[in-house]
Amino acid sequence: MKSSSFVHLRQDGVSLLVSLAPELSRIIHWGEDLGDIEDFDDYLAASIESTAHAEGDSPDQSGIWREQARGAIGSPVLKGHRRGKDFSPLFVLSGHTATDQELVLIGEDLSAGLRIETSFRFVGAGVLVTSQNVTNTGSVDYCIEDLATYLPLPDSAQESLDFAGRWVKERQPVRREIQPGVVSREVREGRTSHDYTILQLAMTAGGNFRSGEVWSLGLMFSGNSRHTIEQLQSGRKSISASELLMPGEMIVEPGQSYSGAPVAAIFSSSGIDGVSDRSYRWLRSRPNHPTKIRPRPLTLNVWEAVYFDHDMEKLTELARVAKEIGVERFVLDDGWFGSRRDDTSGLGDWVISKDVWPEGLGPLIDVVKANGMEFGLWFEGEMVNPDSDLYRAHPDWILSVAGRVPDTGRGQLVLDLTNPNCYQHVFDQTNKILTDYEISYIKWDHNRPLVDPGHHGKAAVHEQTKALYRLFTDLKANHLGLEIESCASGGGRVDLGIAQLVDRFWVSDCNDALERQHIQRYTQIAIPPEMLGSHIGPTESHTTGRVHSLGFRAITALFGHAGLEWDITTATVDEQAQLKNWATYYKKNRDLLHSGQVVRVETGSASTFIHGVVSQDQSRAIFAYVTIQGQAASRADAIFIEGLDSNRSYSVKAAYPVGKPVFQERTGPAWLDGIVLNGKALNQIGLRPPILFPETALLIEIEAI
Ligand code: DGJ
Repeated sequence: MKSSSFVHLRQDGVSLLVSLAPELSRIIHWGEDLGDIEDFDDYLAASIESTAHAEGDSPDQSGIWREQARGAIGSPVLKGHRRGKDFSPLFVLSGHTATDQELVLIGEDLSAGLRIETSFRFVGAGVLVTSQNVTNTGSVDYCIEDLATYLPLPDSAQESLDFAGRWVKERQPVRREIQPGVVSREVREGRTSHDYTILQLAMTAGGNFRSGEVWSLGLMFSGNSRHTIEQLQSGRKSISASELLMPGEMIVEPGQSYSGAPVAAIFSSSGIDGVSDRSYRWLRSRPNHPTKIRPRPLTLNVWEAVYFDHDMEKLTELARVAKEIGVERFVLDDGWFGSRRDDTSGLGDWVISKDVWPEGLGPLIDVVKANGMEFGLWFEGEMVNPDSDLYRAHPDWILSVAGRVPDTGRGQLVLDLTNPNCYQHVFDQTNKILTDYEISYIKWDHNRPLVDPGHHGKAAVHEQTKALYRLFTDLKANHLGLEIESCASGGGRVDLGIAQLVDRFWVSDCNDALERQHIQRYTQIAIPPEMLGSHIGPTESHTTGRVHSLGFRAITALFGHAGLEWDITTATVDEQAQLKNWATYYKKNRDLLHSGQVVRVETGSASTFIHGVVSQDQSRAIFAYVTIQGQAASRADAIFIEGLDSNRSYSVKAAYPVGKPVFQERTGPAWLDGIVLNGKALNQIGLRPPILFPETALLIEIEAI
């Protein structure tokens, strides 16, 4: 629906209503679908605010671009200047184009010599992607400090949720009341960061996984970032996201433009799970989404099994046991190239080490293939160790400032991929390995934050990030079907930008199932499970020292792109048999696990998680009942199952693909071997749980009859 004075974009239960006028264009509504609009004037009339004493004389004028020149007192969309001048643009709408799904607005400030183009596009499942660019139409360089997407939040948005983290503890939820001021989640690591929020959410009071309205933004970029929620003295609230530009990073010459990173805006009227549902349906609709190509192969990554100790005999044995279990992809991690016998040297030399692989990788790949698996290999192409042939030959190929060598991180420096020669070297060496060998998958790591990220004295995070995107695009173009996993010391590069180019994320270096329950739960808010590497780690976790049962580890790993990261040659015969059952179970059910809706039931208790995947047609579901800690009462709360069809009957039973958890009880519940209930009863009466040890899990299978 559109007329000259407004544009109403609608998709899948979401509306964006924009009022258009040369003097003031503004978003009237982003949220639940408003239905057909006939008389827009009344909508406009309803939205005009009173003006208070001690404020400007006109009703809210901030509009799409929130310029100060209009009287807007919050943060403007564009911050910049021309040597101090043209700091306060005033954009006049000079044109717009609109289709059912997209609106493009063009604003011009002839006196400041600036043109801004802002687009809103529904990309599927009600996900709105906004993009902006600014062109310098003046005659002197213009320095952009920030170009942000701002969307208004309604008064009912009262709480926010974002995610903080660190190595081996990514994405811990931070919940706050929205209050006056600005909450700004900023990343200056030059890469996405373990501390990156992926999405920042604003919610109605008490909003949770299953209920409440949610408005969320996620920057689609892997460099520096800023996500904010702002509440002004007027009470007006907004949510924003932008690439965080370093001082002087974006100086636009006359006639040139800067395109800000796109931002995904996801609204849900059914809680956080509704956000996930929209995000998954959007990502899954892409032609290159990994499940569109083939089922997600069960993966063995040998990092925690051998670390740098590459030994053909040991790896052959690992491949043999992996085959027995049913593994489909075997990944050789760090240590196969140059002088890389530990983490102090060799990065940058992507040439197979003659010391450890005198006959190249061919013999190992042959063994892997003979055992029916495909082969994957680790790279960290953006990095160089000072102790490397590359650095000795080209010490000037690093990102740096004023000729000083930046502080090392994990003993390494960052290559300057914005230098065409350096880029070509990284591409050529990687490309050669991928050409010489049959490699279907690479794990691409990034193990340090960027400091002093300069190219010829200027900040270069933006260009470095773009260069990485180009590198992935070029590698994929040269090697059709190549899969890329994004890793950065675990989950330090998980974002909706790189998600468009990669097939998998290494979610965390922590394979401790308890930590993983939390990390996966929150990473899955934006990214579907089939893109999240989740491996069964060793019995005693290498990053926490905790010991967990195989059952708990296996059930936790099932709810992602499953794999193993453990010296499975040391697993007992019984454990190997259990792993085989689990592998079969994963393969049998991955179609459901990787296509359904994720449901996180609100238990009201800190002791348990109940989460599952329900097929889109609500005919099947697999749930996990997880005891996060010892329960307070002797009788645990019922397992309420949500997301099913209230009126359909379902067979419900416990499943034990990796043996039974320990039942700490004298008598147990009566449903474990199978009962039939309808969706309503499963939701209202629930299932009485068995009493389980803390840090264990029970799998529940549900099928419509
Ligand atoms: C960090 C990654 O997160 C690990 O999985 C492993 O690949 C190491 N780097 C290798 O150095």
